[in-house]
Amino acid sequence: MSDLMNSLGETVQFIQSRYANTPTVGIVLGSGLGNLVAEMKVEQEIPYTEIPHFPVSTVKGHSGKLIFGELAGKKVLVMAGRFHYYEGYSASEVTYPVRVMKMLGVGTLLISNAAGGMNPDFEVGDLMVIQDQISLFTVNPLIGKNADELGPRFPDMSEPFNKGLISKARTIAKELGINLHKGVYVGVTGPTFESRAEYKMLHILGADAVGMSTVQEVIVARHMGVNVFAISVITDLGIREEENTITHEEVLQAAREAEPKLTAILKQLVQVI
Ligand code: HPA
Repeated sequence: MSDLMNSLGETVQFIQSRYANTPTVGIVLGSGLGNLVAEMKVEQEIPYTEIPHFPVSTVKGHSGKLIFGELAGKKVLVMAGRFHYYEGYSASEVTYPVRVMKMLGVGTLLISNAAGGMNPDFEVGDLMVIQDQISLFTVNPLIGKNADELGPRFPDMSEPFNKGLISKARTIAKELGINLHKGVYVGVTGPTFESRAEYKMLHILGADAVGMSTVQEVIVARHMGVNVFAISVITDLGIREEENTITHEEVLQAAREAEPKLTAILKQLVQVI
């Protein structure tokens, strides 16, 4: 067996020794977006530091633990805090927890993130359901020997985000009176926010929002056949007339303010999965 499969086996065995139920829905919570947990009946929490072969998060606003429990009648597994490529982890380390989730039983992955808006219709605090992604500015996490046990060498990416889930989320948002944009998310490595010219270029290339996470997680999930749904909170506007400085604090603040809308949509979406 490969080193990867061995490590995954050990990680999964450890987690199952701490939590006996099978989660079917995985949720990755982005920067400043941890409140969904308050809606859960929490059954178990495991800090990343205790999990064999898990990397450890270093970014402010990421608490770093797996949370198991029930949400809207489903067994869910929440990653509170994720790993970013800009922290110095390899693409395969960044996505390791997604592989673990699948091996624990997760068939649907819901992802949230904070992102910079480039579509002129967007305002700070808006939500955008991700319809498609551009991952070419990041390192593909599947580079290297293929783990045939997990998925094919050349995975299809014609539907990275499940159309049925997108449509359900749009119906839910409408019922809740929440304005939900849809658009293309482009992944970048960070940690710099983009220059004016870079935001403009990314928009011309077809992206509506830009962020430093998600695309690698989506690739690894799709490799294994996991259905994915993702939503961005627009925390800053990359393209605008006035002076354009962006800080991490501003991003976290905007995410926190928009969070109740995100939580409401995700909760109802979990119910209908
Ligand atoms: N660019 C990249 N990543 C981000 C941004 C941004 O403007 N906002 C939040 N994450």
